[in-house]
Amino acid sequence: MDSKYILNITELDSQHEEIETIFIALQAAIDDKERWHALLENLCEKLKFHFYAEESIMRVFAYPEYQEHRKSHLEILKTVEGYRNRDLTEADVAMLRDHPMQLFLEQILTQDLRFAAFLNRNKERLGIQ
Ligand SMILES: [Fe+2]
Ligand SMILES: [Fe+2]
Repeated sequence: MDSKYILNITELDSQHEEIETIFIALQAAIDDKERWHALLENLCEKLKFHFYAEESIMRVFAYPEYQEHRKSHLEILKTVEGYRNRDLTEADVAMLRDHPMQLFLEQILTQDLRFAAFLNRNKERLGIQ
């Protein structure tokens, strides 16, 4: 994963890496229906787990942008889960080939990094390592 996406929160960064790996595998499996669906299920699980992890930390730290951030998580999940119940359209395939994880990466660059900065400021204030 490109260094511009690194939050310096080990657990979340490794979850991002793992999710990126599945997105790349998914992109390569567009023409293999069975593998595509297996990977898609895996991706949905990993995304739910990751979003839950982030949101839990946000709640612990009373993160003021929690609602907005959570809304983006739900949108990403809705988009990805939407592929479960229908055949891919030409537009889906084009999007998946060109930039399969655009929404996910944009979310890291905007909201996740903002949250990481907030967390770092508050960790110092609360004396947490
Ligand atoms: Fe994230
Ligand atoms: Fe996030």
